[in-house]
Parts: sequence; structure tokens; C-alpha cells
Amino acid sequence: MIWVLIPSLTALTIPLVSAQVTATGPNGPTNPEAPSFLPVGSLVDQSASFSRLLSLNGLDDFCLFAPPEAGPDSLIGNVEAIAVAYCTKPRNAARIIPDGAITAAHFIRTPTYVQIYGFWDGTKVNIPSGDAGGELDPHGAENLGNPMGGNVTSNVPTGSDVFYEEWMSFISYDQFCLRICTAQTNNVTTALQCEHELDIMGCQFVMAIDDFYSANNSFTSCDGDPAPPPGLYPQADGSTSTFRQRYTGTYVDGAGSTGMFTVGQTVTPSAPAYYPAKSNCVTYSSISNGVNTADYSVTAAPQLLVSGSTGAVSSGPSTSSFSSRATGSVSSSSTASASPSRFTSEPTPSTSASTTASTASSGAAAQSSTGAASMTRDLANEGFLLGSLVGGIGVLVGAILSN
Ligand SMILES: *[C@@H]1O[C@H](CO)[C@@H](O)[C@H](O)[C@H]1NC(C)=O
Ligand SMILES: *[C@@H]1O[C@H](CO)[C@@H](O)[C@H](O)[C@H]1NC(C)=O
Ligand SMILES: *[C@@H]1O[C@H](CO)[C@@H](O)[C@H](O)[C@H]1NC(C)=O
Repeated sequence: MIWVLIPSLTALTIPLVSAQVTATGPNGPTNPEAPSFLPVGSLVDQSASFSRLLSLNGLDDFCLFAPPEAGPDSLIGNVEAIAVAYCTKPRNAARIIPDGAITAAHFIRTPTYVQIYGFWDGTKVNIPSGDAGGELDPHGAENLGNPMGGNVTSNVPTGSDVFYEEWMSFISYDQFCLRICTAQTNNVTTALQCEHELDIMGCQFVMAIDDFYSANNSFTSCDGDPAPPPGLYPQADGSTSTFRQRYTGTYVDGAGSTGMFTVGQTVTPSAPAYYPAKSNCVTYSSISNGVNTADYSVTAAPQLLVSGSTGAVSSGPSTSSFSSRATGSVSSSSTASASPSRFTSEPTPSTSASTTASTASSGAAAQSSTGAASMTRDLANEGFLLGSLVGGIGVLVGAILSN
């Protein structure tokens, strides 16, 4: 297992300046101008829609990205750039998630983000059976998003639809999660709270979901405290340490010669820094899209659970505060600099310049004690990340090169 805590790297690579909260760039070219329900009497374009506009408004009003076509080549890792939106209600000129596909969904509203996670039969939306999936986010190789032209809205924070800039989503054939970051604090930007580089760690770790693997076959809508930003471990003295996925790559120096570098270290944290408390949870029996799937016609205006229309099976003040500090999380010094030797302690195959498959699979497996889905690496994104990392860690490269 090869992971790292690099206390000093975050400061170099994720400046805590004010990040963007609401989106100012153009909406994707295949998206409707604004999110909206399809009118009664219209048809959902289930096979040819290329809308990439997600909304996350509540337990039964959200969208996820999935492949545009079925087939063995439609692994999430292959189609990240061209995935399209599938929604739980007829909206956004997007496709619909068939009733029954989603076997669990859990919505959480926090002061700084909204989040949905759960389990589904992703084969109903073109994901090949067994696909461990991947991570989608607004960045991607060309910073146009993964998928390109993918955009997100929520009406939860303000009561009306707002396009937000930072989000992240993990999708596999049997599970999903999506976080849209809607506000920032003094020390946690939306970019940090929707961090998008821990792309093989999966929903439970990245989104700090304590009960993830026992959350199938249930539906809840909760308020919650914000989770720690993915990979960040606030320390008692007020500093934070950060863990990064192991990555080995090459760079070309000014003189034109190629060298190798590795970031990441040998220790995989077993859990996020802590699991945030949830409150005001309401449990529902299921969700449904309300569309006549015989012909995909919209026969009635969508009914939403959150408006109290149907389906609540229990509600209560069930405030639950989970263990405030996970046991077994990586301990690391909170001192400011990582010893260069930490970068060289793991033997790195010097002939391989790319992420190795074994790294990806073993790393991901370590995160899912129940053996559920791992996530494939988002290579395009890592390429993007590395561009900035190489600059940031220039001073360390000399030590790293000895690998
Ligand atoms: C759409 O997504 C792109 C890529 O992430 C982003 O730059 C742009 O601001 C977004 N636009 C809207 C309207 O959300
Ligand atoms: C979730 O539950 C459904 C049954 O409702 C089952 O088919 C599916 O395999 C379960 N998913 C996981 C990841 O256990
Ligand atoms: C941000 O600040 C709050 C309190 O001011 C602190 O509890 C939290 O750990 C900090 N978060 C990070 C990621 O540094």
C-alpha cells in the first residue's frame, strides 16, 4: 500500500485564497440554459440526450453522470469526458434514471455543501456490470470538466437554482456519490471541500460517510455538519496534514532530460479525520421518477418527497453524532516539512512512468473493507494535477529522483 501524508505539500499546491463558489464560466454547450422540469406531455429523450447538467436539490431530485451508450467499452474510466446526465425526475433535458435502479439514496444538506450518496444498479444507465468506476469533477485534462461541458446546480442553499463551480462525484456500477460545494469558510474553500484528486479512494473515504456500506436499501434526508475536506487531517495545534495518492511520473527538465518523480507515501489512512454529525434525518421508503417508462412520457408534474407529498415512513429528531475522531487514522507529525526520505522509502519501478494498475487496485481495495467497488484512477486529471505539483515540489525533486 503506497500512500503519503505530506504535511507541507498542501500549502504549496492548494492556496487558501478565496476560491470560486458560484460558476462564472459558460454552461456546457449541450446543456439547457437553466435547470427545469420537463413540461407535462413532453418525452424524455432517453437515448439521444447529451445534456450534462446535474441538479442536486434533494433526496429524490438529483442527477448523476453515466455513459451515453451501453456496451463493454462504456467503463466510466473510458467515458469520463463524454458522460451524460441521468436524473431522478424528468428535468434538465436529460435522461431519466429508471425506477428501481436506485436501491439507496442519502441526502445531506450542510452549511458548505449538499451531498447525495447511495447504491444503484448502474447497468440500468449503461454502466458495464462490475465496473469499479471513476471520479468526475469540474476539472479534467482541459479544465472543461469531466465530462466536458458538465455543470451542476442546486436550489437547496438559496431556494432558487444556482450554478456552482466546485463539485465531485464517484460513480461505479453499484454505487454513487455527488457533492456540490455551495459555500466556503475562512479556512476551507469550495475547491478544498470538493477536492478532486483522491480519485481512487471512493465515496466512503472522500465524502466521510460513516455508514456507507450499511446504507443500502434505505432512503434518508438529513442535515449535517461539514465533513473534513477530503484527505485533510486537522491537527491539535491548528495545522493540517494532508495525504495524497501515490503517483509516479516523469518530467523533462530545462536541459531536456527526463527524470522521474514520485509523490505519495506508503501509508493509507484507514478513515477520514472524522465523520461529521447528522441531524433532522427523515426516512423514506423509496424514490420514483414519475415518468411512464413505456414511452418515457411526462404524464404529470413531478412530485417531490421533500415537499412532503408522499412516502415518508418515519421522521424524527434522530441526531446522531458519530465518533468524532476515527481510530486508526494515519498519525503524522504536524511539523511543517516532510522528510525527503519519506519519498524514497517505497521502491518504485523505475521503468514505469505511469500509474501502475496494482497501485490503483490495491489502494482502492484497502478502502473498502466489504470489498465493494474500487475506483479507477482519473489519469487525465492526474496529468493536470502533476503539472502543478511538479512546480510545487521542485525543491523536493532532487531527493525524489533517487527513485
Ligand atoms: C461549467 O463548467 C465549467 C467547467 O468546470 C466551468 O468553468 C463553468 O464555470 C461552468 N459554468 C456554469 C454556468 O456552471
Ligand atoms: C444493494 O441492494 C440491492 C437489493 O436491493 C442489491 O441487489 C445490491 O447488490 C446491493 N448493492 C450492494 C453494493 O450491496
Ligand atoms: C478550520 O477552522 C476550524 C475552526 O476555526 C477548525 O476547527 C478546522 O479544523 C479548520 N479546518 C481545516 C481544514 O483546517
